[in-house]
Amino acid sequence: MRREDVGWIPPSMALREIWIGALGCFILAGATGALFRYGMLAGLPIGLTLGNLRHAHSHLMYFGWVTPALMAMIAWHLLGDRIPAGMAWILRITLLAGLAAYVPFLLYGYQPVEWAGKRLPLATIAAGLNILAWYAYGGAYFYLGRRVRHPARPWWDLGVFFLVLSSLGAWGRAALAFRRVEDPFWTDAAVHFFLNLFADGWLTPVLIGLAGAGSPNGFRSFPRWIWWALAVGTPGLFLLTMPPAGTPLGLRAVAGISGGVVALALLAAVRSLFQVAPEEWRIPLVFLGLRALAELGLSVPAIASWALGAGLRILYLHLLLLGFVTLGLMASARSSWGDRAAPWFRAMSLAIDFLLLSLIPLTGLWPPAWGGRWTLQVAFIGALLPAAIAMGMLGRILQGLMVRTSGALPSPQREAAP
Ligand code: HEM
Repeated sequence: MRREDVGWIPPSMALREIWIGALGCFILAGATGALFRYGMLAGLPIGLTLGNLRHAHSHLMYFGWVTPALMAMIAWHLLGDRIPAGMAWILRITLLAGLAAYVPFLLYGYQPVEWAGKRLPLATIAAGLNILAWYAYGGAYFYLGRRVRHPARPWWDLGVFFLVLSSLGAWGRAALAFRRVEDPFWTDAAVHFFLNLFADGWLTPVLIGLAGAGSPNGFRSFPRWIWWALAVGTPGLFLLTMPPAGTPLGLRAVAGISGGVVALALLAAVRSLFQVAPEEWRIPLVFLGLRALAELGLSVPAIASWALGAGLRILYLHLLLLGFVTLGLMASARSSWGDRAAPWFRAMSLAIDFLLLSLIPLTGLWPPAWGGRWTLQVAFIGALLPAAIAMGMLGRILQGLMVRTSGALPSPQREAAP
């Protein structure tokens, strides 16, 4: 039986809900990103601001799309089709908490809101709830997974550990605000610590684990030093995205070394995974390679200063978050649950390629003489495409669920420890 012929029989009701709900969040967050681009062209309706749209977009992508989807994927690989009810509830709450943070970020950003005679920082409270849900997942993951052996486990252990560690940056930022510390170095450092450790520490190792988990020989010939290099180098990476001028020399050296070590490890990981990962992983792995090359460049302070000045940050972020993480998640759903769990994969890859290319004319890499209003129009079209394709994807999935076909799902490669 060809894989395309296997109807998508989602492993459990909870995993089905999470995957569909997370895709819904991707559509909403992607549409919010497209509205941001529209706002740059023609202004925004009903008192929305670009800053709040950016917050709403990035938080929903992090909290509602990638985090619950990755948690569900790991749970399926480790625990199989019948995940325990407690874990299923943690996944549902994580998804709902991600969605709940969207509205306050969209309407108010980080501004406190007057409510029942009090000024409440609603978005910060909602973000805090998300972090509590991650702690619950971390506890359940280490508890329920303790007896399960799986070749990708060291990668997921590392990712879940960094997810919990990254939250210290968020609490640290809140503590500084509470104590009214306004030193830009420390406030920026807390935010960058959270954002970078989340992307490089949580998302990247977990996706590497999923890429290898898709193949029976995934990690057999994988060099062990790569895991160690990521474990040691990742916590210092946040210093790379701090403005070099305001960062003390010693910390800049740590940033450069961390960046170089992590970039080389990622390039080695891409090389090893390319030989074993299922075919749909090729494009996400190319994006991981490009991101690693960019990281290698950023580890040189002169290049880092130039890149920040040239406005490359958004392109650099999306190379990882869209090119590797989003496509990788969809590739993982296909290799785990069959192609119908993430249909229109090729169209999504092309849409993401187009979006990333459409960002180049907005950066300093593009000669100013070739610029103009058309660059914003192209960026707007590029921003619309992934959300539009994801709507088609979701429609096909829901249609497929209504017309259930029979067929067996490939089993995850786990074994209970003796
Ligand atoms: C669906 C396709 C996407 C579109 C159309 C999109 C669009 C945007 C836009 C317009 C911005 C603001 C750019 C600016 O400030 O000039 C942005 C920033 C950002 N996006 Fe996306 N994005 C997409 C996918 C993603 C994904 C998948 C993630 C994460 C998993 C993500 C995370 C972020 C982050 C973290 C920022 C920066 C936020 C900040 O600076 O505070 N985006 N995106």
